[in-house]
Amino acid sequence: MRLLEFGCVFLVVLLFGLVKFGKAEVYIVTVEGEPVISYKGGIDGFEATAVESDDDDDDEKLDSTSEVVTSYARHLEKRHDMLLGLLFERGTYNKLYSYRHLINGFAVHLSPEQAETLRHAPGVKSVERDWKVKRLTTHTPQFLGLPTGVWPTGGGYERAGEDIVIGFVDSGIYPHHPSFTTHNTEPYGPVSRYRGKCEVDPDTKKSFCNGKIVGAQHFAQAAIAAGAFNPSIDFDSPLDGDGHGSHTASIAAGRNGIPVRMHGHEFGKASGMAPRARIAVYKALYRLFGGFIADVVAAIDQAVHDGVDILSLSVGPNSPPSNTKTTFLNPFDATLLGAVKAGVFVAQAAGNGGPFPKSLVSYSPWIATVAAAIDDRRYKNHLILGNGKILAGLGLSPSTRLNQTYTLVAATDVLLDSSATKYSPTDCQRPQLLNKNLIKGNILLCGYSFNFVIGSASIKQVSETAKALGAAGFVLCVENVSPGTKFDPVPVGIPGILITDASKSKELIDYYNISTPRDWTGRVKTFEGTGKIEDGLMPILHKSAPQVAIFSARGPNIKDFIFQEADLLKPDILAPGSLIWAAWSLNGTDEPNYAGK
Ligand SMILES: *[C@@H]1O[C@H](CO)[C@@H](O)[C@H](O)[C@H]1NC(C)=O
Ligand SMILES: *[C@@H]1O[C@H](CO)[C@@H](O)[C@H](O)[C@H]1NC(C)=O
Ligand SMILES: *[C@@H]1O[C@H](CO)[C@@H](O)[C@H](O)[C@H]1NC(C)=O
Repeated sequence: MRLLEFGCVFLVVLLFGLVKFGKAEVYIVTVEGEPVISYKGGIDGFEATAVESDDDDDDEKLDSTSEVVTSYARHLEKRHDMLLGLLFERGTYNKLYSYRHLINGFAVHLSPEQAETLRHAPGVKSVERDWKVKRLTTHTPQFLGLPTGVWPTGGGYERAGEDIVIGFVDSGIYPHHPSFTTHNTEPYGPVSRYRGKCEVDPDTKKSFCNGKIVGAQHFAQAAIAAGAFNPSIDFDSPLDGDGHGSHTASIAAGRNGIPVRMHGHEFGKASGMAPRARIAVYKALYRLFGGFIADVVAAIDQAVHDGVDILSLSVGPNSPPSNTKTTFLNPFDATLLGAVKAGVFVAQAAGNGGPFPKSLVSYSPWIATVAAAIDDRRYKNHLILGNGKILAGLGLSPSTRLNQTYTLVAATDVLLDSSATKYSPTDCQRPQLLNKNLIKGNILLCGYSFNFVIGSASIKQVSETAKALGAAGFVLCVENVSPGTKFDPVPVGIPGILITDASKSKELIDYYNISTPRDWTGRVKTFEGTGKIEDGLMPILHKSAPQVAIFSARGPNIKDFIFQEADLLKPDILAPGSLIWAAWSLNGTDEPNYAGK
């Protein structure tokens, strides 16, 4: 009855809303007239050429400071405001950005009816509803041969990448990570041609920039207008609330020789591929919802205007578009075309939707689309059972004590209260459900269920449970996990291993079962199964690289013109992109398994 009433009220509101105004949304509008990048003079007294494109020898970089550029950009913005002001009453719309440098257009928050009006207004080229995008190394320099290959030609690791500015359109940066700090380094000189702004951290009142980081801005107008922005986790600043942005920035441009430490273990020293390159942060991605194209376009427009040399875009649409005529003639790809025209090298991730064909989400023919490869490093570990069987698995962990075996105890056999099933106790996520007296000093056996795949359980938490109960280590065996599930080695502080193979998991369970006598009620009489965990901290190098990573999106481009497929081959290039050690943000909590330093 109550439900029904609510339903009616809701329906009335909905109908009323529909009749009057549709829900306001963000639209990206492009209008006639050249953007700054291709402006050749001639409108309203603008006669000079913004880009000296006739000169072959010179790079075609936009001089963003010239009077012509700034006044033409102002002129475009005024026209955007005039168009909106002529069509709509003030206060019924909210212009979020004017795009002036790479495309001529704007992002605006207004009703679908207003969008329709705009679509038919003279001078308007396109009106598209905003769409969402998502966020799509210690050994890698050696694997790529950089220390003896390209680094020496660039002055060694101390200088490779010097004075190159890489713009990262991503989730921001955690500026205090050692990959980005500047103490104990040769001082970074100024880069005069880069003129990006540096925002100040509202909490610490300190600038995000330090010489290594040369620019830091954030773009959230569309996220805010869409009601998706939460300042307490997304941060109204360039601070990385996720980790992804710090990760990508350190892979490309992190300092050389940064020790990778987790749980007191060191996994070698990390370096960016261009360790002296400067970092320009353009935050437009956020933790829970990813990002909006209107913000991403604003970030790219600004980055090129500011003078970055390279744009790194580890971002793409959630899935290939299904209803457009082409995949690369939208405002986003037009913006990238402008960036390339301005002389910027643009690299975009191919996407992570592989191994299926046509899962690519980077379409622009004019940019470099990068697929992910696995490199030659593998982390493996083994569980040795009391019966001599050796089971391979994943575990970035130390070994149990040398020459010592430990009793195996399954979580299901040591429940404090067997009615506590609402929390699937075999996940070992809650120490308070398990009997410490029976676990202490033993190896705790848990199940890796679907909860781990969807993220409601984590290996890190298993490790914490085992530690809290005084276990000598833990073993996870897979149960009901679909074949093809991707398992990553997770660094843990105590001995621990995940047996990923279903048949090996069954061997383990059978062994445990046989060695665990029970009374007629099923209660365990004694635990007699034993095992030990080996050291999984050292990688082994395999000769099987490079190989395309299973998750890396595959081409070809799904659509060209109507009914025509695949005459644009993508991705363009392959680079290591799986299991790379790199920075993360202390303010990001997205990946519980990897949160750390
Ligand atoms: C472990 O066993 C090996 C061979 O039995 C022996 O040589 C070694 O000293 C032992 N190590 C420890 C720490 O007990
Ligand atoms: C354990 O072994 C008993 C017989 O010894 C069998 O009935 C039971 O199904 C086994 N349990 C598992 C989980 O394999
Ligand atoms: C980010 O994390 C650091 C380290 O935990 C903390 O000191 C700082 O207060 C956090 N910043 C914000 C804005 O939450």
